[in-house]
Amino acid sequence: MSKKIAVIGTGYVGLVAAIGFADFGNEVIGVDINEEKVNNLNNGISPIYEHGIHDYLNRNLKSKRLRFSSNIASSIRESEVIFIGVGTPPKDNGDVDLSQVENVVNEICKNLNNYKVIVTKSTVPIGTNKWIKEYIEEKTNSDNFDVVSNPEFLREGKAITDFFHPDRVVIGYESEKSKEILKDVYRSLYLVETPFVWCNYETAELIKYANNALLATKITFINQIANLSETIGADVNEVAKALGMDGRINPKFLHAGPGYGGSCFPKDTKALVQIGAKYDVNMSLVKEVINSNELQKIRMVKKLQNILGDLKNKCIAVLGVAFKSETDDIRESPAISIINELIKDNSKVKVHDPKALDNARKIFGDKIVYCEDNLEAVKDADALILITEWNEYRSLNLNNIAKLMKHKIIIDTRNMLQPSKVKELGFIYEGVGRH
Ligand code: UGA
Repeated sequence: MSKKIAVIGTGYVGLVAAIGFADFGNEVIGVDINEEKVNNLNNGISPIYEHGIHDYLNRNLKSKRLRFSSNIASSIRESEVIFIGVGTPPKDNGDVDLSQVENVVNEICKNLNNYKVIVTKSTVPIGTNKWIKEYIEEKTNSDNFDVVSNPEFLREGKAITDFFHPDRVVIGYESEKSKEILKDVYRSLYLVETPFVWCNYETAELIKYANNALLATKITFINQIANLSETIGADVNEVAKALGMDGRINPKFLHAGPGYGGSCFPKDTKALVQIGAKYDVNMSLVKEVINSNELQKIRMVKKLQNILGDLKNKCIAVLGVAFKSETDDIRESPAISIINELIKDNSKVKVHDPKALDNARKIFGDKIVYCEDNLEAVKDADALILITEWNEYRSLNLNNIAKLMKHKIIIDTRNMLQPSKVKELGFIYEGVGRH
């Protein structure tokens, strides 16, 4: 049976979930305090760049299963299932800022007009779901509701595909009634036998952090192996390929690079360390992953210094600012640390990115030069550093680039180019973990 759902928060997770649940056949209201965003969404305009989102958004608006509202109170009152999909950004000390979740919970308390299932999709620290349950009980003097933890594992850039084809759905629950309701909400996936992990709140909460921290560890491991490969003359791509052939390891997330970034891995690894400290449990491995990832970003600038010496007044072309390809998101992108280092060294930085220039402007203002075309960025540059693995950079016109650059130097932090071909054209080439 289809359900009436409110998804509070229309960021990456909330918006994709709202669209996805509507596509499963539920009646969904996506809620956001930002009225302009709500108006745009009701007119079929997505605030984020995400492959396929436009079609799915418009298809579900047209079917009238999906609409957007800035009225949180009426949206809660009309719905049986309330998904919390607001942001849980990090505070300066690595703790999670739960104020947006707390605001939503307070709105739910004020509008608990009949039985509801309150589902946290936002990534929240251990104990949050238990707290939500106890808090609402205390505030409303009612137990006519259930709380469920349902962490999300979708990736930016592949959000729609990941939502419709998850490896598994994790649900932390307490009552059988809420379990049956969640089965209805996810009916389309349940019927195609997507694995469901039914567990308690704490297990669901920890799965999310452990998942992201393990992936961040895998990347950091291969980055350290890459650094060793450089020194001993091995090729990290071949090492990773062979490791990935071991069925116990699998080839994914073994691409050496400039360090992981994004709105999740950096935040969630730091939060896991804080959670360990809170419960007095040693999280030294994750701590070291965080340290090593910071060093990896700076190591990319060292590669430039090793070739060019002092970077003062050197013109550096930076290709790619997004934290990975297929997104305009630059949060915690390695490019930010790298550009900041270059600015500190008084280099002249020219950047290009097919999608993320507007976001870069918000951070760097007039400290760097923004180029709409990648050739414009490399013109007269002393060196070129490739940071995001956009497809257009795989097929760069190296003949033209060779003519345009002042010095033919390429730092390929994503191992995108073929070293032999680049060197044939007279470039000095440095990848990560290979020569
Ligand atoms: C990540 C997880 O992959 C999702 O499962 C999770 O739902 C999401 O965080 C979240 O917690 O919301 P996302 O941040 O979109 O998703 O990005 P990823 O594709 O995981 O990439 C993270 C970073 O690792 C990027 O900077 C990427 O370039 C880097 N990376 C990834 C590597 O350097 N090497 C790899 O082999 C893979």
